[in-house]
Amino acid sequence: MRATKFPALPRFSYTITRDYPYAWVTPAVILGGIVAITFVTIINVATIGFDLVATSTNNPNQTLHDANPYGHHGLLSLLARGVKASCTATTLPINIQMFTTNYAIPYTLSSVWRENEDNTQENLGSLVYMNQPINCTVTEVIIQVLGKYTQTPILTARSRVGLLLKTHATCSVDLGNRPSASSVAKRLTYFNLIGSYNLLDETIPHFLLRNETDKASLFWGESLLSVYSLITAGAYHEEASVFSWGQDGTYNAYIGLTRQSNATTGSAEEVTSDEFFHVQCFTEANYCGNHTIPWLSQGKGVDGHAFDPYASIWGTIDILGKAMWFTVMTDLGQNDNAIPNMLAYPDLLANLTRNLTTVVQYWESPEATGNITGSTIGIDHTLSTKSFDPSTAPQPALGAEPAFLSTDYICQVPRSKSPGIRLLLILMSDIVFLQTIWSIFKLILDYKVGRDGHNSRHCEGCLETHIQESAAPVGPAGATTITNRKPYIGRKSIDESDVEMVSYEQINVTERHVS
Ligand SMILES: *[C@@H]1O[C@H](CO)[C@@H](O)[C@H](O)[C@H]1NC(C)=O
Ligand SMILES: *[C@@H]1O[C@H](CO)[C@@H](O)[C@H](O)[C@H]1NC(C)=O
Ligand SMILES: *[C@@H]1O[C@H](CO)[C@@H](O)[C@H](O)[C@H]1NC(C)=O
Ligand SMILES: *[C@@H]1O[C@H](CO)[C@@H](O)[C@H](O)[C@H]1NC(C)=O
Ligand SMILES: *[C@@H]1O[C@H](CO)[C@@H](O)[C@H](O)[C@H]1NC(C)=O
Ligand SMILES: *[C@@H]1O[C@H](CO)[C@@H](O)[C@H](O)[C@H]1NC(C)=O
Ligand SMILES: *[C@@H]1O[C@H](CO)[C@@H](O)[C@H](O)[C@H]1NC(C)=O
Ligand SMILES: *[C@@H]1O[C@H](CO)[C@@H](O)[C@H](O)[C@H]1NC(C)=O
Ligand SMILES: *[C@@H]1O[C@H](CO)[C@@H](O)[C@H](O)[C@H]1NC(C)=O
Repeated sequence: MRATKFPALPRFSYTITRDYPYAWVTPAVILGGIVAITFVTIINVATIGFDLVATSTNNPNQTLHDANPYGHHGLLSLLARGVKASCTATTLPINIQMFTTNYAIPYTLSSVWRENEDNTQENLGSLVYMNQPINCTVTEVIIQVLGKYTQTPILTARSRVGLLLKTHATCSVDLGNRPSASSVAKRLTYFNLIGSYNLLDETIPHFLLRNETDKASLFWGESLLSVYSLITAGAYHEEASVFSWGQDGTYNAYIGLTRQSNATTGSAEEVTSDEFFHVQCFTEANYCGNHTIPWLSQGKGVDGHAFDPYASIWGTIDILGKAMWFTVMTDLGQNDNAIPNMLAYPDLLANLTRNLTTVVQYWESPEATGNITGSTIGIDHTLSTKSFDPSTAPQPALGAEPAFLSTDYICQVPRSKSPGIRLLLILMSDIVFLQTIWSIFKLILDYKVGRDGHNSRHCEGCLETHIQESAAPVGPAGATTITNRKPYIGRKSIDESDVEMVSYEQINVTERHVS
């Protein structure tokens, strides 16, 4: 009231309060308060105080799985699922070199395309990939024979004949970006991979990852590739070195191996047969007029007939070609895609490696070493040099593991802010939440009090007076009036004379009116 003496200054007011007329309020507030503080704090600890930071990973599934700062169990981890980690797809441009997640041989991405609804083909400049499983078929193995003009001097020095093996594979992957396509084939994105293997090239001497127990099929594939590369190069040298171009070191050949059968599914008989391959060859001596191994093995190409050179090499070409074909199939994660994978089944592997012991012994025999083979390269004894025996125990775990292209992804994962900042943020958020809960609680309680009795709108002091008078009914809620006096509308309506006339005790106002 005194403030009215200084009209120039702003006026501040206080709220007139009364105790709630219920005995249960105090325990309810204490109990509810504890519960609310605990609950709100748990929510805030779980969800507040994380930054999203970028990391790179080559296993986004694992990264996303591990991203939850509170692990995989419990209330906190459930609440923290709201802090979303995410990874973005990688763009693999054409001509990029990469491995699969089996890490055997390197591949080059050679083309990417999709099939449109009108059966036309749409070429793409890159593959936008996000760790989807790939589905591949090997289509061709190409064996290039290299001589002194086509391989590096150091390789020529160690081996007169060099071999470069290339494998073409066609793969499909469901990138999930065409869910409405009319058929499965049109939903997929296709790409070609060219895998290469060169025993003598020091830049890629071994499979990137080798593990005899964990990746047994690839271990056997690499054993066959490394031994039969030498054997084939030696056999080629032995055949060609009797001719003038051989003595000159001018070896050059292209041998293309495709699947002979066009059946959609192949049997074990087909893959073990020496008629599995359809052979195309061009050598410095001649080209292949016949296209199966048995025919070529009879060939008298160079001097006799015009076709089918180097009859003795084709037995080892058959094994080498199959070793490459099925190694790539394994590396690309295929156990049975059209044809059974010879590296994945014990009986087929035994058939494929049947001559391994013999040829290793031959290579290491004194008459072969460095002479007829034209090579000073030895057998790698860290790999298998014995034929596979399917009756050995324990059996190695043969078979192809599902393959994914190995590349890096950028992921956003939550990371805790510093403890001080987290504490501050959690406190701030706690206060806001608790304030809101308190306001709602009060609102409800005030409403209840208002309904429970008309005395509720009296201030403590005027209550007695009111009870004595105990006359007129309570006015409508929220529209309390001052009986016998000027209506109390707002602070402004009270002038000096009002203050004189109206004694404090007579103004029956609710808290809300003044505040
Ligand atoms: C990663 O997750 C995707 C989508 O759930 C799935 O298709 C793919 O197989 C997973 N990759 C690995 C390596 O588990
Ligand atoms: C892989 O593709 C072939 C056709 O190219 C299909 O028959 C086969 O079902 C596919 N496999 C998977 C696992 O999608
Ligand atoms: C092969 O893999 C197994 C199982 O993953 C592992 O225990 C072993 O150490 C690996 N061996 C080598 C040589 O890396
Ligand atoms: C498979 O090849 C045979 C002859 O070699 C041919 O008669 C047949 O039509 C071919 N089948 C398909 C599906 O191309
Ligand atoms: C093999 O080649 C010779 C000469 O070209 C040809 O006469 C013969 O028919 C061929 N045989 C087969 C099975 O292609
Ligand atoms: C396997 O070895 C036997 C003799 O040991 C030989 O007659 C046969 O030609 C060899 N086969 C291959 C494909 O090298
Ligand atoms: C491998 O398979 C071929 C064709 O089925 C068969 O002629 C040969 O005897 C088999 N060799 C072994 C050692 O099983
Ligand atoms: C190497 O070849 C030559 C000529 O062909 C032969 O005289 C010599 O005995 C061979 N050396 C060995 C170790 O076999
Ligand atoms: C205000 O108080 C007066 C006297 O105490 C009483 O007569 C009147 O009914 C009250 N009005 C309301 C709306 O409570």
